[in-house]
Amino acid sequence: MTISNDGPVPQAVPKATILGGSELHKKPAWWKEATVYQIYPASFCDSNGDGVGDIQGIKSKIPYLRSLGVDVVWLSPIYRSPQRDMGYDISDYRDIHPPYGTLDDWRDLKAELKATGIKIIMDLVVNHTSDEHEWFVESRSSKLSDKRSWYYWQPPKYDEDGNRMPPNNWRSFFGAESAWEYDDATDEYYLRLFTRTQPDLNWENPKVRKAVRDIMSFWLEEGIDGFRVDAINYIAKAPGLPDAEIIEPDIPHQPAMHLYLNRSKCHDFLRELGDKVLSRYDVMTVGETPHVEEPDMAIQYVHPERREFNMIFQWEHMDVDRIPGTLLGWKQYRLSEFKAIMSKWQITMQERGGWNSLYMENHDQGRSISRFASDSPEDRCLSGKLLATFLSTLSGTLYIFQGQDIGMINLPKEWGIEEYSDVVSEMHYRQEKERRQRESKVTDPCMKDVVEDIQKKARDNGRTPMQWSGMSPHAGFTTGTPWRKVNPDYVACNAESAVTDPDSVLNYWKRLIRLRKTWKTLIYGDFEHFAAEHEQLFVYKRSLKGDKDAYVFMNFSDAPIYGVSTIVPEFEGDLVLGNYGTPRDDDVVKSTDTLRPWEARLYCARTEWKDYR
Ligand code: NOJ
Repeated sequence: MTISNDGPVPQAVPKATILGGSELHKKPAWWKEATVYQIYPASFCDSNGDGVGDIQGIKSKIPYLRSLGVDVVWLSPIYRSPQRDMGYDISDYRDIHPPYGTLDDWRDLKAELKATGIKIIMDLVVNHTSDEHEWFVESRSSKLSDKRSWYYWQPPKYDEDGNRMPPNNWRSFFGAESAWEYDDATDEYYLRLFTRTQPDLNWENPKVRKAVRDIMSFWLEEGIDGFRVDAINYIAKAPGLPDAEIIEPDIPHQPAMHLYLNRSKCHDFLRELGDKVLSRYDVMTVGETPHVEEPDMAIQYVHPERREFNMIFQWEHMDVDRIPGTLLGWKQYRLSEFKAIMSKWQITMQERGGWNSLYMENHDQGRSISRFASDSPEDRCLSGKLLATFLSTLSGTLYIFQGQDIGMINLPKEWGIEEYSDVVSEMHYRQEKERRQRESKVTDPCMKDVVEDIQKKARDNGRTPMQWSGMSPHAGFTTGTPWRKVNPDYVACNAESAVTDPDSVLNYWKRLIRLRKTWKTLIYGDFEHFAAEHEQLFVYKRSLKGDKDAYVFMNFSDAPIYGVSTIVPEFEGDLVLGNYGTPRDDDVVKSTDTLRPWEARLYCARTEWKDYR
């Protein structure tokens, strides 16, 4: 395969397909129907009391996962790593981080998961390695090293006063500092778009691409069922690494995303992986691709004929409450904006033959109940079920992040900034402080507003230990001292009590997951949206030829909504599931007129009633 010249112009998506977009979208595949459960290993379950989750702990929870009904487990990185970015900095791709266990432990886990019918996918982090990876250690040792060109090395520049400066003005993705790190040993800089311990691999080098293919083959031969591919739209950098335009003259380092994100050459690299490795296996792939907002751009990654990914994690809905240009700056968003984003992704994929990933949480996000509904004690359960209804009734592959299944929420508001230890939280705080100093703004020295934003959006929120039990110390996550404090609300919110409470968020998720296994409309059906401008109500219809139509009515507010039946005048259906209680036989209603606060109702069109309950 030849790798084409790079350029910022998006490539064309094949038009001459045998199947049209809608047929491609509806073409069945196991990974389209799957429910994926994401495990964040450090915080899932600790079996040996060292305070850190591990593989034996995960194994002990297989019965729990099985009863939830998930089809696939996605393991966030468990590879050997100095953990400067919680395993997204890998120092050995073929070994396990010792506190988590050994490769043999992992093999046992895989075998046990498979024996219960659960598939396993792994995180593939290959935009960068750890600076402790032997490739980088060798690369930094000398300008003459064989591995020098495996990374991006450049000599310094000097200003007119002779001060040393980075080779270009790119800003790191994680903050306002330079994307380049100076290395004394050889008097050169290396590129690192994330933290200074995560040097970027040089994908232009065919040996790097071959090494990545070898890692993939290693794990595929171990019998895994696919990859979640980290930060993959960063791998192609603009030729010559030119300076970015100066749009913030007060700061030396400029936003340069257009010079390293979604470059057309990235697609060539991905197709090479598809052709040479992935096409030999029946696996699923999901690319993590921040800043893919245009459908044309997204389709290039996921159109089946381009052989890149099955789907991507687009971030547009996750960014709806972020102030652009900041890491964690929070803004109030309007429901109509959120609905427009979700509808766009539903319709685009449906019309153009792509496939969605459905997620509201992961290890990079605040908890969805706290961000998108209400985490007050009286609303939390309703909110968890509302969001579960929403996510499970859209077209795409469903992803549930650990803890989302029981309705976990953000860190307590009383916890101070010292509890937020993630690199992004620290950087956001520092960056805001510097910005205020630069702008000579007199502010509250505690920066309360910044702390409040962090409380809403920090990645730390998704990383607290899983709450297994209300009775045991540390929520039953560990018998030792947990690596991160457990959210004290575990007494009310924990898996043990959720299992036995028929009205728990957990049991509600179970019903939805079961429904998706039989009601194909929920997976493949077309999406039609009503009352797009309404700022409280989210209503849509899903329909699939030969199957029953679904109608979803949701109130995304704490006030009742009246007159809902006028929104879809021809609608007549039977309640299948609602978050104000399991429907009884005499509770089957034809239409709904009032939606209570945070209420969600899923209906099956009356004309074609089948008992999905
Ligand atoms: C995306 C991962 O999800 C995130 O946790 C990580 O910090 C960056 N990529 C860098 O690998």
